[in-house]
Amino acid sequence: MKRINLIAFSSLIAIAASATAASADKLTLYCSAQEDWCQLMARSFEDATGIDVNMTRKSSGETFAQVKAESSNPKGDVWWGGTGDPHLQAAEENLTESYMSPMRDQLHDWAISQAEGADNKTIGIYSGALGYGYNTDLLAANNLPEPSCWRDLLKPEYKGHVQMANPNSSGTAYTTLASMVQLFGEEEGFEFMKGLHSNINQYTKSGSAPIKAAGRGENTIGIVFMHDAVKQAVSGFPVKVVAPCEGTGYEIGSMSIISGARNMDEAKKFYDWALSADAQNLALQVNAFQVPSNRGAETSPSAPDMSTIKLIDYDFKTYGSSDERKRLLQRWDEDVSTLPQ
Ligand code: F6P
Repeated sequence: MKRINLIAFSSLIAIAASATAASADKLTLYCSAQEDWCQLMARSFEDATGIDVNMTRKSSGETFAQVKAESSNPKGDVWWGGTGDPHLQAAEENLTESYMSPMRDQLHDWAISQAEGADNKTIGIYSGALGYGYNTDLLAANNLPEPSCWRDLLKPEYKGHVQMANPNSSGTAYTTLASMVQLFGEEEGFEFMKGLHSNINQYTKSGSAPIKAAGRGENTIGIVFMHDAVKQAVSGFPVKVVAPCEGTGYEIGSMSIISGARNMDEAKKFYDWALSADAQNLALQVNAFQVPSNRGAETSPSAPDMSTIKLIDYDFKTYGSSDERKRLLQRWDEDVSTLPQ
């Protein structure tokens, strides 16, 4: 009899323990910024709130594809970081939720415009201009001229020296494709991408990989957001950052709550916290040199000065729309990626 009571008692304790575990506050975070920044955001939010964060880092296009694939049984709660276009596409396809954060009045207008263009299903968290960087030692060792324009990258002497990401997986590379189309017109933009293809040594999955490879001396020129090139230079690698002479596109890095999030309260807590100046200042600890969306957050003196860069009036509404993003990616797959090199 005593033994039966003991078994019943232990089972009760086990049930109580598992109920506590199930109700523990948690958040599943999909992150599309740099790995070190994603880790710091996840750990700092845990410290600030006691909410456990399960974070996965994937590039912007890959995260969009994952959120879409999981839409009938969502596993993620918040998607933080990554270029705005796939966040806008997710909003249009109802993969993300409208949310009006009480933090909105602390943000720059460009962050709010991003939200307003998407029924408040996404919001701007940082911005940064596209460009490229090169390894000065490798350039000199190969007797190559210093490039300063987009069109310079088409010169035959750069064959095998240029790297960019694949625009299907990477938001950086999609921004590159959409920027060339806006800068030169669609036909000329695609001619540019085809010419570039002859000089490309590898299409990487992640957008910043080409400049990390340049920092390590494994690649000469990387087409990336300028802030990612500055990070390599500030870390002591021989990398020079270029704002291309013809002008360039830019991103509004974004954040969205995933439709049907299992941990909706925690998702909103993270969202509000991530828009605060304190949370955005964490970027400085990991040399993330984007311009923060909270007006009270600090921008590093090393960050590219957006006011001195010739920026195009990037049309987020068009290039973040589902039809246009799909169409441009399909055209790039068919007309560019299949060409011999
Ligand atoms: O964190 C660096 C960064 O360049 C962001 O500015 C950008 O939103 C993101 O990475 C894009 O990454 P990917 O090109 O891999 O999607």
